[in-house]
Amino acid sequence: MEVDFLVIGSGIAGLSFALKARAFGKVCILSKDAAQETSTRYAQGGIAAVMYDPDSYEKHIQDTMIAGCDLSDPEIVRITITESTERVKDLIAWGVDFDKTGSGKYDLAKEGGHSEFRVLHHKDATGLEIQQKLYDQAKNDPNIEILENYFAVELITQHHLGMMVTKHSTDICCYGAYVHNPHTNKVETILAKTTIVATGGIGNVYGNTTNPVVATGDGIAMVHRAKGRVRGMEFVQFHPTTLYNPNERPAFLITEALRGAGAVLKDWHGNSFMEKYDARGSLAPRDIVARAVDHEMKISGEHYVFLDARHLDKSVFFNHFPNIYSKCLSMGIDATKDMIPVVPAAHYSCGGIWVDKWGKTSIDNLYALGECSSTGLHGANRLASNSLLESLVFSHRACQHAAERIKNIEIHRGIKEWNAEGTVSNEEMILVTQSIRELQSIMSYYVGIVRSDERLQRAFDRMYILYRETENLYQHSVVTKRICELRNMICTAYLIIREAKKRKESLGLHYSIDYPPKQN
Ligand code: FAD
Ligand code: SIN
Repeated sequence: MEVDFLVIGSGIAGLSFALKARAFGKVCILSKDAAQETSTRYAQGGIAAVMYDPDSYEKHIQDTMIAGCDLSDPEIVRITITESTERVKDLIAWGVDFDKTGSGKYDLAKEGGHSEFRVLHHKDATGLEIQQKLYDQAKNDPNIEILENYFAVELITQHHLGMMVTKHSTDICCYGAYVHNPHTNKVETILAKTTIVATGGIGNVYGNTTNPVVATGDGIAMVHRAKGRVRGMEFVQFHPTTLYNPNERPAFLITEALRGAGAVLKDWHGNSFMEKYDARGSLAPRDIVARAVDHEMKISGEHYVFLDARHLDKSVFFNHFPNIYSKCLSMGIDATKDMIPVVPAAHYSCGGIWVDKWGKTSIDNLYALGECSSTGLHGANRLASNSLLESLVFSHRACQHAAERIKNIEIHRGIKEWNAEGTVSNEEMILVTQSIRELQSIMSYYVGIVRSDERLQRAFDRMYILYRETENLYQHSVVTKRICELRNMICTAYLIIREAKKRKESLGLHYSIDYPPKQN
């Protein structure tokens, strides 16, 4: 198969890119599960954008820089925020319906770290609304083909022409991807003039996560193996408030917007505790709140803390948070009468595939968009609801850049077919599933919210054993999605640990007891 644009991923990043790129050529979108099963679909709080006075671009820029602990790239922050209003208009033009107040203005919510009300939302199911409307636009377009349950295994570069490629090579070029076709059960070659990695997050390397099962760091691992640049992986964001319900995967999120509406974190004695940690209380940036919750759980020895929303007017639940209300009710918790048990969970990767201000990676003809990318927007900690925005801004910019260049790119033929020689069907799936469990346990206990040099070293050593065993298994196994995911999760976990070991300080989401922050 040959296409102009090969887009790996059908979340907000992949779909919004495709909806722009369709004007410039044929687009093929891959999703490794059903096209609608993405992190995008689960987003609750909404999308941050500057809409009305008294908000301003400068205020949103400042909030983003503060949350990112000044590690964010100021130019990228300015680009993202000043383009926010236009990109939200794109969503509205594609049919996305954001809630409005009685006066007809958009009903803006507030979340942790935001100095103004600026989060556009569709009740507490903003992501579902975006996912559906973008998918509806894409699925009927003659220039867009969506291949569901197709798994991208590797990016194709000069390496697959038999040439030597190392991390020091400066002219690496991407020619498409090797993709597992579920109908033939074979790995096939898709050649593309331009390839876009939009594979989402990494949450499943941890035991408890808000991310759907598709979030296994595939794109990051593929780019790392192709010798592209990856950075900032130590900055894994844990969301402070997911519903305590052991064994539910993904963990059900209790949006930060509920705290924005007045809900307060409380300990087992019913006391509000966030004031002990930060003057902004329950609405402090996410890294601070997640660490405080983790600390309170350790002090009390209990498995969760509480979110108290009992004082909120019932209409707030019915109008803005109906899904949270009914989910809690399904577990016997009436959020207007009972406190909600909450626990932190791995939520978002602030690091990822390095890209420039056009979403271009260090590899030619290869772009990375959305959560798998590292634009420089989030620094050491992402400001709530800046992720959907980042995806839109950089999809638009990448399309502008790629559309200009595609006229001069030829499809590269003569690539070797996937070599499956010497591989057999793996009958021992237990080896894969048990390794995934081990990996999640290592990452949760040694590379979680609070870290130390010793824990990181232990994680590193254990991960190396899993790496060796899995590579050995992979070399003689017929390709399956599950073994590829395990391989990608090991690679992602390795990158997180490697970066965390290098950072000899506590900063933002990376907190080590060996390097206490200079001031809090
Ligand atoms: P995704 O939406 O995750 O899509 C990834 C796609 O890649 C999927 O189609 C998947 O099938 C495909 N894929 C992956 N690997 C492969 C492969 N090997 N081969 C083929 N296809 C592959 N952000 C906000 O800004 N505001 C919020 O309110 C908000 N709430 C959130 C709530 C939850 C519960 C979660 C989990 C996240 C939330 N976030 C929020 C973060 C935000 O939703 C995500 O960062 C964003 O949706 C990621 O979009 P994406 O397009 O990059 O990836
Ligand atoms: C939330 O709704 O609390 C999540 C928002 C985000 O992850 O940006």
